[in-house]
Amino acid sequence: MNLLHVDASVLGEHSVSRQVSAAVVARLKAANPDATVVYRDLAAAPLPHLSGLHLAAAGGAEVPDQVRREHADAQAALAEFLAADVVAIGAPMYNFTLPTQLKAWIDRILIAGKTFRYTASGPEGLAGGKRVIVAISRGGFYGRENAAAEHVESYLRTVFGFIGVTDLTFVAADGVQVGPGHRAKALGGALEAAAQLRAA
Ligand SMILES: Cc1cc2nc3c(=O)[nH]c(=O)nc-3n(C[C@H](O)[C@H](O)[C@H](O)COP(=O)(O)O)c2cc1C
Repeated sequence: MNLLHVDASVLGEHSVSRQVSAAVVARLKAANPDATVVYRDLAAAPLPHLSGLHLAAAGGAEVPDQVRREHADAQAALAEFLAADVVAIGAPMYNFTLPTQLKAWIDRILIAGKTFRYTASGPEGLAGGKRVIVAISRGGFYGRENAAAEHVESYLRTVFGFIGVTDLTFVAADGVQVGPGHRAKALGGALEAAAQLRAA
């Protein structure tokens, strides 16, 4: 099993999503001791925002050295994703959506011809063999009355659905900013859910 572990929280050791994504990986690693784990910390080593020059580099155009290096890094991120059987992602909610670092990574893995393609009958996902587990951490609650403001889980469902992932699980710590008691309860519940994930 090739396991890719991606974190994006900017809160370091205070991060909730980092603790939950680590618990997801620990659960899978304990159940599959031979699994190899590749770790990508998007806060410590952010991918640059996708630019026109990066798209030009992808198309084979001459670009400045810096852009060529950035394009090579982006291809490495894509290769890691393509090689993974299981992807565990720590996804905090910032301003109702993903951290910009995580969006920059998504811009590098949704690539026509690699993870999806357009056919006469519409788009087709090419990443269907993967299992994706997302550890979400949200300050508030996004139940029915607040659901329209939720753009982390809903967005990632669209993204991974688009590239064909059907084995998609969310482990959520919700309401962590409501108060210290809520934080501990939400984190405890998410860690417990992580420990009970399907083994393989
Ligand atoms: C910059 C920033 C923006 C945030 N915006 C929201 C928000 O829009 N809605 C919300 O429910 N919580 C919000 N929060 C609270 C976080 O979702 C919460 O602290 C969560 O634990 C973040 O994940 P992390 O601890 O892994 O970084 C925000 C936190 C930060 C630091």
